[in-house]
Amino acid sequence: EKGGYEHYMLKEIFEQPEAIRNATRGRIDADQGTAVLSGLALSPRELVDFHRLLIVGCGTSLNAGLVGEYAVEDFAAMLGEVEQAAEFRYRNPIVGSKDLVVAISQSGETADTLAAVREAINKGAMVAGLVNVVGSTIAREAGRGIYLHAGPEISVASTKAFTCQVSVLLSIALKLARGRRMSLEEGQRIANEILRVPDLVQQVLEKNDEIAKVAENFVKFDNMFYIGRGYMFPVALEGALKIKEISYIHAEAYNAAELKHGPIALLEENMPVVALMNKGPGKEKTVGNVEECRARKAPVLGVITEGDDEAREACDWVIEIPECPHYTATIVATTALQLFSYHVARLRGCPIDQPRNLAKSVTVE
Ligand code: M6R
Repeated sequence: EKGGYEHYMLKEIFEQPEAIRNATRGRIDADQGTAVLSGLALSPRELVDFHRLLIVGCGTSLNAGLVGEYAVEDFAAMLGEVEQAAEFRYRNPIVGSKDLVVAISQSGETADTLAAVREAINKGAMVAGLVNVVGSTIAREAGRGIYLHAGPEISVASTKAFTCQVSVLLSIALKLARGRRMSLEEGQRIANEILRVPDLVQQVLEKNDEIAKVAENFVKFDNMFYIGRGYMFPVALEGALKIKEISYIHAEAYNAAELKHGPIALLEENMPVVALMNKGPGKEKTVGNVEECRARKAPVLGVITEGDDEAREACDWVIEIPECPHYTATIVATTALQLFSYHVARLRGCPIDQPRNLAKSVTVE
C-alpha cells in the first residue's frame, strides 16, 4: 500500500504534482484570471466588504497560513493575519462580521483549531474550513468549506497537505484580489503561475537522488538554522519543523534579517544554515546574510534558482529549483526541503512515518 516506496512520507512527497492538480482542478480560471471557489460562496459585495482575512491553524497548517497572509496582502492589498489557533482562542480575540476566517487543518480534527472555529463563529465571523479529511469535525462545523482533495495523508509529517493548502490559499488570495483591485491581466499571470506548479514540483522530485547526496553531509549535526525572507520565511519555518519532527535534529527558522539580532552568536562550524536564496525579492540580502554565516564558519546549504552562479558561489552545497515567482516558490522550495529532511532522517535511522511523541492528529489541547 506504500506503492513501492519505503515510507508513506516519500510516497506522499511524490504524490504532490497530482495532489496539487486535484486541489486546483476546476478552481483556477486562467481566462478570467481568477479562482472559482464554490465552497466559499462569496458575493461580489462580500469580496469587497471584508476588512481582513484571518487564518488559524497549528503546525504545518499554520506555516501554510503564513503564506496565505503574505499572499492576500500582496495580491489583494487586503489585511491578512495568521494566528496559531490556541493563541487565538485564549486571547479574547477581536474578530467579527468584517472578518473572513479560514481555519486550516489537514485532519479537520485538531482540538485547538476546532475551538478557534467555534470562537470565531460565536463572534459573528464568516468561517471557512480548509480541510483535507471529508466529513471531519471542522469541515462540518465551519459554515463554509473548501476541501483540499490531496488524498489520504498517512505519514505523521505533513507534506502534500502543505503544498495543497498553499495552492488553495493562493487561489483564495487571487479571488479576493480580482474582486477588489487586481487587473484581468495580472490575474491571468498569477493564475497561469499557479497552474505551472505541478510541473515545477515534478522537476524537483527528479532531483531526489541529488538531494539524498546533499543530505549525507547533515547526518552528523545536532542543530540547524533555516533562513528566508518574505515568502521564503514560511518555507524556512516549514523546513525547520520537518527536520525537527522526523530527524530529531534541533532546528530554528528565522527571517534572515533577524539573524544579527541574537542568533548569529550561535554560528560556528557545527551550526549549518539552510538558506532560501532563490531569485525574487530579498534574494540579494539573503546572499549577504549567507556570506556573514560563512565568515563565521557555518556551513551553508542554499536553495537557489537553477543557473544562479552568484548564489551558488556563496554556498557549500546547493539544491537548485526551477525559476518561478516567490509566491509559488513556497511550494517548489518546500518540496526540495521535504526530500532533504526525509533523507537526513532516513540516514539517521529514524522511524520516519511515526516519529516519537507525535500523533497524526492532535485531538487534545
Ligand atoms: O490536521 P492538522 O492540519 O490540523 O494538523 C496540524 C498539526 O498538528 C500538523 O500539521 C503537525 O504539525 C504535523 N505533524 C507537521 O508535519
